[in-house]
Amino acid sequence: MNKTQKPIVMITCYDALTAKIAEDAGADYLLVGDSGGTNVLGYENVNEVKLDDIFFLTKSVKRANTKCKIIADIPYEIVYEKPDEIVSASKKLLDCGADMVKLEIEGDRIEMLKKLSVNKIPVCTHIGYTPQTPNLKAQSQGKTIERAKELVKFAKDSQKFGAQMIVLELIPSNLAEYITQTLDITTIGIGAGRHCGGQVQVWCDIAGFSPRIYKHSKSFADAKVALLSAFTNYVSQVKSGEFPDESNASVVSEDIIEELKKG
Ligand code: KIV
Repeated sequence: MNKTQKPIVMITCYDALTAKIAEDAGADYLLVGDSGGTNVLGYENVNEVKLDDIFFLTKSVKRANTKCKIIADIPYEIVYEKPDEIVSASKKLLDCGADMVKLEIEGDRIEMLKKLSVNKIPVCTHIGYTPQTPNLKAQSQGKTIERAKELVKFAKDSQKFGAQMIVLELIPSNLAEYITQTLDITTIGIGAGRHCGGQVQVWCDIAGFSPRIYKHSKSFADAKVALLSAFTNYVSQVKSGEFPDESNASVVSEDIIEELKKG
């Protein structure tokens, strides 16, 4: 798929259950993002996510055996704390079932992309608001000419040094459009307007699980309310004795019970 065809649809996914649902919904790509750290693993911050966590999540998504391509995030632990391990870590992510790894680009991180490309590892870069970057505010990026130029350079270098795809996060739509037109590789936007080659969203945000609806997102359903209702009804029916009833269990012949009582 490219810029002249229908937009690519990517959605975050952290397990086999939601991977299957995403496939049934028609998604093209499943992103095992480090956002899984805060959304499902209970961390306060995505930078607490370990490589082992991404292995675990990626394997779970892979087990769903969907037709969707899987992209796995290279976590902060590798990018900022163990950069020498980036190639081996990425190879292991591919072994866990990823088709591509995602690398956030800020500062001199293009050097890491070069290493991955030399090792023939398929990479999707991620520019704009990059949550792993220390002290970078979660706000629209590229509003000054200096920052806009920097983002355009990250985008062009991503393509030049082998990235196959690029995520544009919180980038003004006209700047994202300019970047999209400048590149041959596909841009995937999140909070970057409608002119990208595709869109990515965090599933918990679009399904009503996040504390608020972000400007870059939209609530497409209130799945949290549906789940809460199922759990609440279950709890209440167990406590009241309504569930389980005879229809929810099987019985053995009374002869067996009598035999057991004899000891
Ligand atoms: O981790 C993630 O979910 C991401 C997307 C927001 C692009 O990186």
